[in-house]
Formats: sequence, C-alpha cells, structure tokens
Amino acid sequence: MVTTTPESLVKTSTEETLLSPRFYTTDFEAIANMDISSQEEELKAMIAEMKTDYNRYHFVRDEEFKQSWDHIDEKTRRVFVDFLERSCTSEFSGFLLFKELSRKLKGRNPILAEIFHLMARDEARHAGFLNKAMSDFNISLDLGYLTKNRTYTFFKPEWVIYAVYLSEKIGYWRYILMYRHLEKHPEYQFYPLFRMFENWCQDENRHGDIFKALLRSQSKMWQGWQGRLWARFFLLSVFATHTLTVHERADFYESVGLDAQEYDREVIRKTNETSARAFPVTLNVEHPQFFQRLENCADRNEELKAIDLSNAPKLVKFFRKLPLITGIFWDLLVLYLIKPVDAESLRGTVR
Ligand SMILES: [Fe+2]
Ligand SMILES: [Fe+2]
Repeated sequence: MVTTTPESLVKTSTEETLLSPRFYTTDFEAIANMDISSQEEELKAMIAEMKTDYNRYHFVRDEEFKQSWDHIDEKTRRVFVDFLERSCTSEFSGFLLFKELSRKLKGRNPILAEIFHLMARDEARHAGFLNKAMSDFNISLDLGYLTKNRTYTFFKPEWVIYAVYLSEKIGYWRYILMYRHLEKHPEYQFYPLFRMFENWCQDENRHGDIFKALLRSQSKMWQGWQGRLWARFFLLSVFATHTLTVHERADFYESVGLDAQEYDREVIRKTNETSARAFPVTLNVEHPQFFQRLENCADRNEELKAIDLSNAPKLVKFFRKLPLITGIFWDLLVLYLIKPVDAESLRGTVR
C-alpha cells in the first residue's frame, strides 16, 4: 500500500515473499531464564565495547548527500531503491527484535537487557540511514505501520540465536565485500552510501560476536548431534536464501559492477568460514556440487516466478510448478546430506 504526497511516496507495506526479510518473535521467558554464566565475562567485555560507540558520529549525511540524484538512470534507480528497501526492512526487523528483547528482559537479566538495548541502538541507526537514503529517491518506508502490520514469525530462542548469528555475519561480509570492491572501482560508486559500509559492517561484526557468545553459552547448541543438525540446517537455509536473492536481483549487483554469481559465492564462503568460530560444524562449500545445486535452485526459482506472472489457469500453473518445487527440495536435501566440516576439532586454530 502506498500513500502519495505530490513530491514523495510513503510505502506502508512491502511485498512479503518467501525471500523477504522476516520479522521475528520468540519465547522471551525462556531467554530471561537462560544460563549465560559460562560466557558472562565475554558478554560484559562486549557491553564495554558496545558502550564505546565507535560509530556514534559515523551515520551523518555530509555534503556529498546534498545533491540531486536525477542523473541516475531509471533502471539503476529501480534496482537500487529495491536494495535500500530490503536492507532497511532487515535492519529494522533486527531493531524491533532487539528492542523487544531488551524491554522484556529489563530487571530480569540485566546483562542481556543491556546488550540488546545497545544492539537496537545500532540497528535503529542503520535502518534510519537507509530510510533517509530512500527519501533521496522520493520514497520512504512507514516503519511504524510496518511494526504493527507485518507478520511475525515465531522462532524458539535457539533458532533465533543460530539465525541472528548468521544474519549478522553474512551482513558483515555482504557490506565489506561490496565496500572493498567499490574502493577498487570507485567509478561504480553512484551514491555515497557505499562508502559508509566499512565502519557500518563493524557494527554487524560485533553483533555477530555477541550472538557467538550466546550460542557458546548454551552447550546443547554445539554439543551433541542435535546441535550439529540445526547448525547445518541454518547454514543451508541462510545460504540458499542468499543465493536466490542475489540471483533474483542480479541487476543491482551488476549496477555496481559486481558479478552476482561471484559475489554470492564469496559471501557464502566467507560466512561459512567465519561461522566455524561459533558453530559445531560448517558446510563443505568446496564440494563440487555445492554451488552448482544452490544455483540450480535459483534458476528454478526464476522459472517459478515466471509461471506465477503468466496468465495460465491456476491448475496449469500448479502442475508446471510442481516439478520445479520438487527439484528445489531435492537439491536442498542432497546439499543438507553432504558430509559437513567438523568445526569443533578446528577450534583454536581457526582465525
Ligand atoms: Fe545493522
Ligand atoms: Fe546487526
């Protein structure tokens, strides 16, 4: 839904698909009662670091933002605004979850309440900055409306920890790899947002480290077979979502001079390598079928979208989609069953 004023557009809803950034809720009671004693020192050190607030003066729209962007061509503008909207929604979803956790844990689990409060501070800045960037293109997200009307997915605390850890770390790699690429190829930097990513991604990196401490504080999350199965499940889900999203939005990555396939693979390789510091296992991304099967899923996803957009009757659409959906599930299942890499035995050597 959109409302318009003569000069700008306020979006109150964003398209919700399987690939859209999700909004989460969880069992706050269980988190309040979580025993974090084994990682308490680490978490206190993280609170001290977060309080230093390295990026307090980073998110400032300096002179370079104060200009007209009319020279950006229509196609680049469209894919860029879509990128901003997705990023803003996912930063904002992090903000809401952290804010709610901090509110619910106040007076019950002071360490966690404080740490979530500090993370919410960062995500609010990130989302706000992206929303301001959108307004340069005469569009903005009505975040208050989104808060009330978006569907919230319930995740058990353990799932929240696996999923948020990965989304912070993959966020770090997405921002820093794009930053490094544009540092080498400034001719593609058509808008000053990208140069903010170097310090910005350090926030995500710290958030990831906080979730690493939470994960390591819960021994059942990394000891035993269940922890290993969940770790594989979340790694694969996050990597599959990333591949599908990047392939679906290849035009945006090309607009900044990135090869979408190469970028996707590099982000996944790096995130997988990083997660060996927290997870009991990582995926064997060097397996010859790994990226091939993930990219098959992305191709099938494109075909599914084309069928959805066609004028065929519902039943015809269903039968055309069925083999594609089965194919995606089959590929994901084969990928899930590839022997993982044991990260526990590497612990202490991985940097
Ligand atoms: Fe963020
Ligand atoms: Fe974050």
